[in-house]
Amino acid sequence: MDALTQLQSIMSRAQLLSVADSTKAKIALWSGAVRSGKTFISLFAFLFAILKAPRTGNIIIVGRTLDTINGNIFSLLTNPEIFGALTKYIKYTPGAKSAVILGRVVHLYGANDASSEAKIRGLTVCLAYVDEATILPESFWKMLVTRLSVDGARMLATTNPGSKNHWLRKEWILKAREKNLIHFAFTMNDNPSLSEQFKTEMRASFTGVFYQRFIEGKWTNAAGAVYSMWDERRHLVKHADLPPIARTLAIGMDYGTTNTTVALLLGLTDEPQPRLVLVDEWHYTSAEHHGETIPDVELSRRFREWLKSKHGPEGAYVPYPEFIFLDPSAASMRAQLHADQITSWAADNAVLDGIADVANLLAQGKLIVSDRCELFLAEVTEYEWDEKASDEGRDEVVKRDDHAMDAARYAIRSTIAQWQHEVYALAA
Ligand SMILES: Nc1ncnc2c1ncn2[C@@H]1O[C@H](COP(=O)(O)OP(=O)(O)OP(=O)(O)O)[C@@H](O)[C@H]1O
Ligand SMILES: [Mg+2]
Repeated sequence: MDALTQLQSIMSRAQLLSVADSTKAKIALWSGAVRSGKTFISLFAFLFAILKAPRTGNIIIVGRTLDTINGNIFSLLTNPEIFGALTKYIKYTPGAKSAVILGRVVHLYGANDASSEAKIRGLTVCLAYVDEATILPESFWKMLVTRLSVDGARMLATTNPGSKNHWLRKEWILKAREKNLIHFAFTMNDNPSLSEQFKTEMRASFTGVFYQRFIEGKWTNAAGAVYSMWDERRHLVKHADLPPIARTLAIGMDYGTTNTTVALLLGLTDEPQPRLVLVDEWHYTSAEHHGETIPDVELSRRFREWLKSKHGPEGAYVPYPEFIFLDPSAASMRAQLHADQITSWAADNAVLDGIADVANLLAQGKLIVSDRCELFLAEVTEYEWDEKASDEGRDEVVKRDDHAMDAARYAIRSTIAQWQHEVYALAA
């Protein structure tokens, strides 16, 4: 076997070509479907680029947070099954702000909001690797490009696609030549390590705009109803008819000082093929009380009373929730609950990821909702994408009553590690 044939047995043609072609432009961008091998192959290209990087200037890796850099990048780079003997040349401790790769120091930056740009202002960069590029603030990306001032400086980036008018597509991919950028679009078929069964399962687990982006790898707009797959006949169950609950995974709570505070109780059913279920709901809406708002101490009291009635001696139909997740911005309410001996956690508030989880679960009939979840039921059919934002390249929902939508997302997204294996039972 010649070297090329040998390489082709472990990498797809598209992967190989992208490594070679990535050196033809200053910026190389891999976009496309989930699990399509973008990170894997771009990291190969990055290792080559480190060996060739100019000696002056910094090498940096940029991601949403240091945590996501660890999870998305170093989990691959330090895995001997993936990077073999090369892992010996990677020195990294999870959480650290720098690493040493092939003898060069690499600085790590989280860039999750507009102010992150200040972190790299003034920096001279000779090589940058960017994870989840669409999630970066545009100002950060632009600043980063201006930092690539050393002769021979380069940038490698990966991303899942976003809306058609996302700044990364409009200003960079569509103007590739002018911007000295080369773009590679990947689908799962470009990753030779995936089994047909895994691909089939992945295809079945996405729906709507998420299918188009994460499976087909297309840049498309989110429009219309967010949960267009919602169907009362399929998803709504009378509380008395719910299947038995194996675990009470969490309560997700969205908090509002002036309008609505809502808590949703999420369970996992005790069935051969377990499903998630929104079992019950508690809410306080000032509009239902002649506009009267109540202080945190009173909200907490009412919430705890409700909670007690669910797992206390009288109403012991569910075990106590394993976690209570709150809107991460609800610091005052978390402090109040803490004072009242209730431990709560800041919810995972990655909006799009959370919406995708809920949409995909609903589409597969893996999430059911009891008729006690009044606010959820009132909102789920009204929840829609903001088409104006979409036209401007952003994925946003129309800002109106979406408190239960948020609470559900918090409970579901924040417990994903607790349920995904049982609910999806993926093969790979
Ligand atoms: N040529 C290959 N040989 C062996 N394993 C591969 C190959 N390409 C990719 N993989 C493996 O497939 C899995 C998915 O690849 P990768 O993480 O690069 O996908 P991705 O496109 O970055 O996905 P996401 O959009 O979900 O981040 C990883 O475990 C990776 O190591
Ligand atoms: Mg990736």
